[in-house]
Amino acid sequence: MKKTINDIQVKGQRVLVRCDFNVPLQDGKISDDNRIQSALPTLKKLIADGGRLILCSHLGKPKGPEAKSTLAPVAVRLSELLGQNVKFLADDNVVSAHVLADVNALKEGEVALLQNTRFRPEEGKNDETFSKELASLADIYVNDAFGSAHRAHCSTVGVTQFVATTAVGFLMEKELQFLGETVNNPDRPFVAILGGAKVSDKILVINALLDKVDKLIIGGGMAYTFFAAQGNGVGTSLLEKDRIPDALAVLEKAKAKGVELLLPVDTVVSQEFAREAAHKTVPSNQIEDDWMGLDIGEKTRELFTNALKDAKTVIWNGPMGVFEFPNFAKGTLALAQAMANLDGTTVIGGGDSAAAVIQLGYADKMSHISTGGGASLEFLEGKELPGVVAVQDK
Ligand code: 3PG
Repeated sequence: MKKTINDIQVKGQRVLVRCDFNVPLQDGKISDDNRIQSALPTLKKLIADGGRLILCSHLGKPKGPEAKSTLAPVAVRLSELLGQNVKFLADDNVVSAHVLADVNALKEGEVALLQNTRFRPEEGKNDETFSKELASLADIYVNDAFGSAHRAHCSTVGVTQFVATTAVGFLMEKELQFLGETVNNPDRPFVAILGGAKVSDKILVINALLDKVDKLIIGGGMAYTFFAAQGNGVGTSLLEKDRIPDALAVLEKAKAKGVELLLPVDTVVSQEFAREAAHKTVPSNQIEDDWMGLDIGEKTRELFTNALKDAKTVIWNGPMGVFEFPNFAKGTLALAQAMANLDGTTVIGGGDSAAAVIQLGYADKMSHISTGGGASLEFLEGKELPGVVAVQDK
């Protein structure tokens, strides 16, 4: 078990908190602040306990300082959400003598935010010098950046070598509980719903979950590779020909393990990929040559919804169709509704499915919506996350 912020004394201490503030920006404005909101329980606890907080995060994939990747908008939003000023230490070098002086001047309960850690090219190399610079700002290090825990970078791993006390925050603890303990010791029946565009992105997760679930529902773009594996035409739908053997192996493994595997029985098809495209529903084994599947059909919505009815644990990763276009969002919406109505534990595995559930208005009906994208997938695949491993055990 990892040490958490309930296990440490922060009063009067300089606490460096690694958050994942990698939020989407449109014209310099934050278009989804879910990741900032998710950090609040940890930050509020550390403030209430009298910590002097120095927050850090990456944003985007800059190779050095660049204006469009500044964390300045995050400082503004966070100040609003916390109801107190978050001092933005806008130094392109992230750590400097000035920054250190400002950090040392912080009083108990005050909060500062460093500039984007990726403004330092050393960040992604887990370089010792930058890790030590970050550590020089802190007496205690807290990692609450689950979304970045699959990255072995200075601010997630290297820094932990040079700070005496390290712990995870409440968000990280919650993510590990729902994506780890819940999935590994589920109340049964346990159902996984996997969607999204590509078999290649999900094959490791499918294989890992096949060892644990009672039912596996497959939808979204990757279903077409399964249809092709069964010898059906898929028209112009997304197809990864080189993954057909993987799809066949999944079908075989499910049979061997006695896992009920459900694929779409009907499909909403169109001749173009566009918001207002004309569309119709056809049986999944009758997709014509110049048509592409963009959502699951009505019969499939019923089939999948029924399959969830007695579930005690459900994990969902990947939308059922092109949910950004209302005409092709019905499958994703139906599953979000079905999950929202369940009494059991419902976990949304991050990325597009998290965005879909939030956008469709079901966020507060789920037990947990992961803030991770790549991190959730790697964790569900059974990999150890370097950012978690690096934190001290209890
Ligand atoms: C994410 O958005 O998945 C995390 O913030 C990690 O970002 P990265 O893929 O740029 O490392």
